[in-house]
Amino acid sequence: MNKGLNRFAILVACATFFLIIAGALVTSHDAGLATPDWPLSNGQFFPKMVGNLFWEHGHRMVATTVGMLTIVLTIYILMKEKRQWVRRLGVFALLGVIAQGLLGGLTVKFMLPLPVSTAHATLAQLFFCTTVSLAVFTSRSWMEARPLHEEKGNLSLRYLCAAALVTIFVQLIIGATLRHSATWDQHLPAGLILAHISGALVVTLTLGSAAITVLRRHKGESFLTQPAILALALLVVQLFLGLAAYLTRLASPNDPQPLNPMVGITVAHVACGALVFATTIVLTLRAYRVLPATSESVQSSSFSLSARNSSLKAEL
Ligand code: HEM
Ligand code: HEM
Repeated sequence: MNKGLNRFAILVACATFFLIIAGALVTSHDAGLATPDWPLSNGQFFPKMVGNLFWEHGHRMVATTVGMLTIVLTIYILMKEKRQWVRRLGVFALLGVIAQGLLGGLTVKFMLPLPVSTAHATLAQLFFCTTVSLAVFTSRSWMEARPLHEEKGNLSLRYLCAAALVTIFVQLIIGATLRHSATWDQHLPAGLILAHISGALVVTLTLGSAAITVLRRHKGESFLTQPAILALALLVVQLFLGLAAYLTRLASPNDPQPLNPMVGITVAHVACGALVFATTIVLTLRAYRVLPATSESVQSSSFSLSARNSSLKAEL
């Protein structure tokens, strides 16, 4: 295990989280077109950071920093890491940040079209997911983790966690489509709100059952219970933030400009969404690391059940 590499991967993941907040501030302030050009801002490399340009150009600067950090991380990984799949993931992260930068530029050039802005918001989450995974794969706890014995239930925990992860990702896409469908001075489309609230129910069901199953079956195994508790707590916060975001967005078309309560709450909702996603990724990766592919106890109990059934039939 390379401590330096792991610390650097954690730094890149934290910087990416900060970048997601910086990006969400651009959207909530409706500052995406503060400058209509790219890669320069108003024809300058470093314009005066006034008005909405503070948010838009500030976001570009944070993005440039994260891009450079990712280049260093990829080189670091290629130099120090022996596992081929981690090396590949490092290169994938670099390609991801380049694609994300291009999407950012494209959304400005084409004046924030819904598909490009939504793709930019979604790829941001995927890139964050990649940096978090790199931090997990290079950590000491990942290297030292030992397989746990089989699960004592009839649902594979690995699949439960993966289902939670997929539903959260779909929910992030619906959220991004919803958010970019209407600016602060327009009402959000009712159909998408309904889809997003239904998505929240499904996420609560899948993530809730994955986390509770971890806590019931693997009490004391902090490798699994820590991310499960964190994901559950963040989900509760996210549901409240979602409700608050909805209420402030309901009122915002009557406001003279994007007001701070709406900006703060919607940005917090995007950021907490990223954290729910990140902790579920950690939980899922760890579940795949230490738990068996199929529940042996399920197989043995269903085997003993079918054996008992056939012996009963034979007796009859
Ligand atoms: C390097 C990686 C980048 C990441 C991870 C990133 C991430 C984000 C995120 C999370 C948002 C908020 C989405 C939302 O609130 O729904 C955003 C918005 C935005 N980003 Fe980036 N960004 C990056 C690079 C760039 C670059 C290079 C530009 C160049 C112009 C850019 C321009 C924008 C614009 C204009 C918005 C607002 C879009 C809108 O309001 O529709 N981004 N970004
Ligand atoms: C599982 C729980 C939830 C997750 C993971 C989640 C995630 C998200 C994300 C990530 C976005 C923005 C996406 C982006 O632009 O990148 C978003 C937008 C939004 N969400 Fe949620 N959400 C959840 C629950 C809810 C709930 C329960 C409500 C309302 C009752 C809600 C209301 C909204 C609203 C109104 C927006 C748009 C905000 C805006 O226009 O600025 N969300 N959601």
